[in-house]
Amino acid sequence: MKFTAALTAFSAAGVIAEISASNTTRDVNPFAGKNYFANSFYAAELNQTVNAFLAKNDTLNAARARTVQKTGTFVWVTSVSGLSIINTTIAEARAEQRKTRKRQIVELVLYNLPDRDCSAGQSAGEFSSINDGLALYKKKFVDPYAALLKNARDLSFAVILEPDSLGNVITNQNVPFCANATPVYEAGIAYAIAKLQASNIALYLDAAHGGWLGWDGNLPLEFAKVIALAANATNATVPYRSGNSTRPLNGTRPLNYTRPAPSIRGFATDVSNYNPYIANPRANYTQWSNSYDELHYAESLAPFLTNLSLPAHFIIDQGRSGLQNTRGSWGDWCNVEAGFGIRPTTQTNSSLVDSIVWAKPGGESDGACGVTVSGEVAPNAGTWWEAYTEMLVKNADPPLPPTYVGNGTVVKRNARRSLSRLLL
Ligand SMILES: *[C@@H]1O[C@H](CO)[C@@H](O)[C@H](O)[C@H]1NC(C)=O
Ligand SMILES: *[C@@H]1O[C@H](CO)[C@@H](O)[C@H](O)[C@H]1NC(C)=O
Ligand SMILES: *[C@@H]1O[C@H](CO)[C@@H](O)[C@H](O)[C@H]1NC(C)=O
Ligand SMILES: *[C@@H]1O[C@H](CO)[C@@H](O)[C@H](O)[C@H]1NC(C)=O
Ligand SMILES: *[C@@H]1O[C@H](CO)[C@@H](O)[C@H](O)[C@H]1NC(C)=O
Ligand SMILES: *[C@@H]1O[C@H](CO)[C@@H](O)[C@H](O)[C@H]1NC(C)=O
Ligand SMILES: *[C@@H]1O[C@H](CO)[C@@H](O)[C@H](O)[C@H]1NC(C)=O
Ligand SMILES: *[C@@H]1O[C@H](CO)[C@@H](O)[C@H](O)[C@H]1NC(C)=O
Ligand SMILES: *[C@@H]1O[C@H](CO)[C@@H](O)[C@H](O)[C@H]1NC(C)=O
Ligand SMILES: *[C@@H]1O[C@H](CO)[C@@H](O)[C@H](O)[C@H]1NC(C)=O
Ligand SMILES: *[C@@H]1O[C@H](CO)[C@@H](O)[C@H](O)[C@H]1NC(C)=O
Ligand SMILES: *[C@@H]1O[C@H](CO)[C@@H](O)[C@H](O)[C@H]1NC(C)=O
Repeated sequence: MKFTAALTAFSAAGVIAEISASNTTRDVNPFAGKNYFANSFYAAELNQTVNAFLAKNDTLNAARARTVQKTGTFVWVTSVSGLSIINTTIAEARAEQRKTRKRQIVELVLYNLPDRDCSAGQSAGEFSSINDGLALYKKKFVDPYAALLKNARDLSFAVILEPDSLGNVITNQNVPFCANATPVYEAGIAYAIAKLQASNIALYLDAAHGGWLGWDGNLPLEFAKVIALAANATNATVPYRSGNSTRPLNGTRPLNYTRPAPSIRGFATDVSNYNPYIANPRANYTQWSNSYDELHYAESLAPFLTNLSLPAHFIIDQGRSGLQNTRGSWGDWCNVEAGFGIRPTTQTNSSLVDSIVWAKPGGESDGACGVTVSGEVAPNAGTWWEAYTEMLVKNADPPLPPTYVGNGTVVKRNARRSLSRLLL
């Protein structure tokens, strides 16, 4: 499939350089053999949770919260001013890579479309389509975003593109704001795909989740449309050289040069939602759907994607899917009673699924809605909610193994090894 081909990149001067003539059957899971980098921003938020448990003398749950601090999660980059977190994250991931000599995969969400969150309205962004938002999104957000990642060739990146956006395009055309935003969403995502082509970047387009779009074959058609637009956007990002020379000049390509089609690695599902990877038992409200859990959703989408020459690879968010069957209806998306879920792994038991991931940093509110915890109601979207986080730790399934520090009982690996040798 052409979508897994290695791609063209530009040198610093902008001269076209073909990285590889591309073995078109290349199909490598970008997560395989890498460490899921755990960023300090989320770890710092979780320090509140560690300290809150310690204050209650709950050393076990404090130690479990420390395990969450070491778990790789996605960094959400959601505004122009937020781009600086990419710099910080790159610097920290490099340090970790040097220290551990283990290749790091840095996980990022790109989330800043004009007219963002057009249906729920909890996460409106900084750009508006009626205010030149698309041009600003491209120039002020996507261009620098792509440049930062392309300048960090020593790291690998997995990037989730624009959660919820194409799901809204498919199901919310009856919402005028979404209908108006549709061409802007499509052009914006296509541009981001075109700009983020590099061999160290794996792109995953958001594919909603089984409860939202599990029954709708229109979604793969929408994906195919956006990727065709991305091919056009790719062509537009580098002008042809004027005249009829076949030699590239800086920032141009020769007349007869054919750029490879832009590619994505696959699709991200269940981002910020609560569906289980494998339902046990299956929730009653899923009765009418083949996509009653996220593995079945991936399996339902795969043949449609393959038919459209789209890559049937998935990453699936299980960050808050640890406690099943707490919802009254599948449509509940906001601060559901939950626990941390399956931790990030490539052991997915499915060739379709590259990795289980934690995309939504558990503890950051979905919006001012949902459950009440210890008498507290939810704060606004993105705001840390400490009581909710403590609930996620306690309800984690599988349970989080504790990470104890500083009380002198930690057995060093070497010590343990020599101890077991003594016992033998
Ligand atoms: C591409 O890779 C496959 C599997 O590694 C190999 O069998 C095939 O010969 C390669 N094709 C080319 C053109 O290099
Ligand atoms: C969390 O707290 C510990 C102990 O106070 C501190 O050493 C560490 O730097 C903090 N982590 C972050 C990411 O701020
Ligand atoms: C925690 O333990 C300490 C020492 O045993 C004790 O002084 C303190 O009151 C306890 N705090 C709580 C909240 O139980
Ligand atoms: C990131 O760092 C580079 C230099 O390392 C700097 O030029 C750039 O402005 C920084 N970008 C952001 C968004 O902070
Ligand atoms: C891409 O551009 C070509 C030439 O401008 C145009 O004919 C085609 O419709 C465009 N494709 C899409 C998907 O917009
Ligand atoms: C193309 O190149 C030829 C030979 O170098 C030259 O005569 C001709 O004018 C060029 N045509 C254009 C449109 O530049
Ligand atoms: C190409 O870029 C390099 C570096 O910026 C510059 O030195 C050179 O003059 C440029 N060449 C042309 C033909 O523009
Ligand atoms: C472009 O055309 C020239 C002259 O026909 C040919 O030598 C060259 O190989 C072509 N380049 C590509 C990338 O097709
Ligand atoms: C992009 O440009 C190449 C020629 O360089 C052309 O073959 C291809 O059809 C163009 N793609 C689109 C989608 O317009
Ligand atoms: C489904 O409904 C039945 C009958 O009301 C109930 O016994 C069962 O517990 C429900 N299953 C789940 C997973 O909620
Ligand atoms: C895929 O294409 C084949 C052959 O055209 C067709 O038989 C099959 O129904 C298609 N499957 C889906 C899921 O569209
Ligand atoms: C120290 O660690 C052990 C486990 O190794 C744990 O059982 C104990 O509760 C910890 N004590 C404190 C004070 O954290």
